[in-house]
Amino acid sequence: MSIEHKTGRLISELIGTGEVPEQLYAELRAAFERECSAVSNPQQGQALRDRWLGRRSGLLSATNEHWLQAAPRELKPVIGKLQNLLRRDLDAAVKAAVGAAGREQAQGEPDLDTTLPAPERTPGAVHPVRLALEEVLDIFRPLGYSVAEGPEIETFFYNFEALNFPPDHPAVDEMDTLFLEDGALLRTHTSPCQIRIMESHSPPLRYVVHGKVYRNDTPDATHSPMFHQLEMFAVDASITFGDLKGTLEHFVRCFFGPHTKARFRPSFFPFTEPSAEVDITCPFCTGSGCRICKQTGFIEVLGCGMIDPNVLRNAGLDPQRYQGFAAGFGLDRFAMLKYSIDDILLMYQGDSRFLRQFR
Ligand code: DAH
Repeated sequence: MSIEHKTGRLISELIGTGEVPEQLYAELRAAFERECSAVSNPQQGQALRDRWLGRRSGLLSATNEHWLQAAPRELKPVIGKLQNLLRRDLDAAVKAAVGAAGREQAQGEPDLDTTLPAPERTPGAVHPVRLALEEVLDIFRPLGYSVAEGPEIETFFYNFEALNFPPDHPAVDEMDTLFLEDGALLRTHTSPCQIRIMESHSPPLRYVVHGKVYRNDTPDATHSPMFHQLEMFAVDASITFGDLKGTLEHFVRCFFGPHTKARFRPSFFPFTEPSAEVDITCPFCTGSGCRICKQTGFIEVLGCGMIDPNVLRNAGLDPQRYQGFAAGFGLDRFAMLKYSIDDILLMYQGDSRFLRQFR
């Protein structure tokens, strides 16, 4: 006799057949447990609950009418107890089965709905400053340059004194130095690395040094209190300004394009003598004049010169024996020129929509 049939038959008939409530309970319980053990996901568990415990058409609801209402008076409490017991036990068992099925499902294959749109993922991207750096290094490495970095926290000696800044030189203020405790400072340029390398290595030297530098500047479209510099220098027994010119002309042609022309203008830096600033033909208008180059056709991109004999001496090298050249520039500015970025601060806002454009 099916379970549906049993729960739908009058209790008096069942008792007439000798099936006292205890037996009936055991039989229903066993039938329920068989169905419960087949539950393998929460949906099936819910269906089982509806079939047995559903308010209107659940099997236990049927017993209200057929067992409880139709039972002789003296049997009603026994039937009521049986029903309550069943409802409580079945409810607990179905809860346990649903929980177990849920855990098993979570461990096994995920319940994938392959028709759902995939969640959007925003992959990272190489930062434009890093891109520019890699391009610069790819130009200098084949020329025999080694790549180095140096400390961002510097001493007054390395950042200024050894680089031939006189003690009262206005550059200490001009460079908007950020001082730390005990006379330490955040380096304002990468030039101190020249000294550190010259002190610890002997010529011939060819180095590219790069890293973060700091100045107490108010941020705007062309200034950031932290930015990136790159310094290249060479020291050997017979280095001339011609070597410097040739190297930098080659460099700007490789970086900005083969038609780029470099213009050397006399300038001054305490650590180089003679010194020059280099302008290149504007990469935006290729020299014909535009808003970016203020109609001059040229853009200033770097400072350079022959390493001052005092600097060589301060680093322990004999200026009678060795000469050197050096050049330095802002990598952020190079990246801005190369990738047409008009605001340096965009590079430090971490907006992936901006950063993804330069992959
Ligand atoms: N250190 C200079 C600055 O931050 C840039 C510079 C100029 C570096 C001339 C050099 C150089 O090596 O020769 O403004």
